[in-house]
Amino acid sequence: MGVPYATQLRAKQARVAALLPPGVAWEEPFASPESGFRTKSTMVVGGTPAEPTLGILDADGLGVDLSACGLLGPATAAAMPVLREFIAAAGLRPYEVPRRSGELKYVHVVEAADGGLLVRFVLRSQGQVGRLQRSLPLLHEQLPAMRVVSVNLLPEHKAVTAGATEILLTDETTLAMPFGEVTLHVAPGAFVQTNGTVAAALYRQAGGWIDADLAAREANRTTAAAGFTAPSNTTASTSSTATATPSTSVLDLYCGVGGFALHAARPGRVVHGVEVSPPAVASARRSAAEMGLEVTFDVGDATAARALAAEPDLLIVNPPRRGLGSELAAQLEAMDTPTVIYSSCNPGSLARDLAAMPSLKPVRARLFDMFPQTDHAEVLTLLRRR
Ligand SMILES: C[S@@+](CC[C@H](N)C(=O)[O-])C[C@H]1O[C@@H](n2cnc3c(N)ncnc32)[C@H](O)[C@@H]1O
Repeated sequence: MGVPYATQLRAKQARVAALLPPGVAWEEPFASPESGFRTKSTMVVGGTPAEPTLGILDADGLGVDLSACGLLGPATAAAMPVLREFIAAAGLRPYEVPRRSGELKYVHVVEAADGGLLVRFVLRSQGQVGRLQRSLPLLHEQLPAMRVVSVNLLPEHKAVTAGATEILLTDETTLAMPFGEVTLHVAPGAFVQTNGTVAAALYRQAGGWIDADLAAREANRTTAAAGFTAPSNTTASTSSTATATPSTSVLDLYCGVGGFALHAARPGRVVHGVEVSPPAVASARRSAAEMGLEVTFDVGDATAARALAAEPDLLIVNPPRRGLGSELAAQLEAMDTPTVIYSSCNPGSLARDLAAMPSLKPVRARLFDMFPQTDHAEVLTLLRRR
């Protein structure tokens, strides 16, 4: 922090370009607002019952308040003092890591572009749920834009930010997040990109590259078909079969709540997403249904052989920081799918995966500055089979 933004962006661009092979056509980096860009925030609860902190823990496990952090989105920033007051008023004791006592461990906040909020309280035990529920009308009064509230239970003392049990406290089960033409539904715990402005541009860019790639292939196919000289005894129906437009198939692995898949949907395209998180898949299905799209989603493991059983015309992958890993990379290397769109939040694991897939050549790439003021980078690449 403190490094001028243009310098940050140049340094990131140079770093990611050095990690990818030469010969890639790089587009201008997509810049982010420098502050107020975080549309999802995970705040560790610390401090005392009367004066809770929302932020991080210091080296001794004590709370450091970051509720006035300049990176938080505007609706999240406005909600922070209200949430701190609410925690004190509702008597929710902050969890004390050094003593392993107390109840409230984290508050997760997601904000939509229209200011709507999803708030998730991560508690050690179920005992406090009633207390929270009773005080909720007060919170709703002070945060009218709060659409979804849930409690997540994390009884274990371990370094993760949520447990397996989710209890919804509102009728609304997902936060509707408009990204251009597409409204994504985000359920508590489902993955959502960190920076809404940049995520919208990322999805738009991927949709544009997919359109251009499939259109170019279709044009080549039509040219090839037109150049074909039919033998004199070929019937009219045979030649019309040669020029009919077949539907194209797009597979989105690690699809989350469907951001890439829904932006790739077009008439005549069969789009399918695979994702391990059931709430994310339910959210993606809801968005597709609301938009009247026949995009389908399944809960599944992207690394299982089944996920790639039918080879698509175009594949999208957007794995977590660890990347695809050697097994999935080997599967992609062995496929015939001509184009892969790879969106990565970790250029290091992207470079490792690319080295394991020599048949897939990165031809276009663009840095999306999802995480300004850090050295993290999101990179979208278009890979073509050699
Ligand atoms: C970087 S996020 C991308 C999500 C989505 N593409 C988006 O833009 O919101 C990675 C996603 O992969 C999912 N995931 C992690 N491991 C997986 C696996 N083995 N199989 C399928 N999905 C997985 C996570 O739940 C998360 O939703």
